[in-house]
Amino acid sequence: MSLPFNIAIDGFSSCGKSTIAKSIAYKYKMRYVDTGAMYRAVTLYFMKKNIIVDKIVDFDLLLNSLNSISINFNYNSGTKNSETFLNGVNVENEIRGIDVSNNVSIISQVKQVREKLIAWQQEIGRHKNVVMDGRDIGTKVFPEAKIKLFVTARLEIRAKRRHDELIKNGNNISFNEVKKNINDRDMYDINRTVNPLKQAKDAILFDNSDLSINDQNALIEDLINNIR
Ligand code: DC
Repeated sequence: MSLPFNIAIDGFSSCGKSTIAKSIAYKYKMRYVDTGAMYRAVTLYFMKKNIIVDKIVDFDLLLNSLNSISINFNYNSGTKNSETFLNGVNVENEIRGIDVSNNVSIISQVKQVREKLIAWQQEIGRHKNVVMDGRDIGTKVFPEAKIKLFVTARLEIRAKRRHDELIKNGNNISFNEVKKNINDRDMYDINRTVNPLKQAKDAILFDNSDLSINDQNALIEDLINNIR
């Protein structure tokens, strides 16, 4: 069973949006798109080209090189994950590291970057049956989405989940560094002038601080079944 509409999932950093989105995509045979991965991949490109150095951006170079970037997602049947490719190269691990995390908020504030990525995202969603997660999906990318969730969880809990994941993937990083990065990114997301993170008027607020993944999945399934 696939769904003839799009689902928008927004919320704070590391609140489990992608876990929710992936489980919906699996259950309803929808396409899952992680827009954070797009912002991360673009950021990595600018870092590699020295277009952002020490958090200072060369805007002329950035604008000139926007059209040289292509991003694709390919499903890895081994890991059962969609992986991000930047100009044909698999960057899935690299874009999750702390260096990209520390620069992505700056790049995602640039209006022209957002316009380009939003146009790609809207094109992907044109035929519906897409579940997309990010910060502005319900407000800007798919304002017409039939189901919109705005996900949150307490900062300590989000930082712990993210820290555990980074350690599991072999990163050597302290809990406090992760917590600071998450909090800083939240502040950038809420306060930026272009498409800030905010709950769409018709989005359902979903706090998963005290929910297990199974309870969360069950609640979301009920919710979708009630709405569709
Ligand atoms: O979902 P994430 O934490 O991987 O996203 C990385 C960054 O990208 C996040 O700090 C804010 C930005 N982002 C955004 O501005 N708009 C989106 N739709 C998705 C992510």
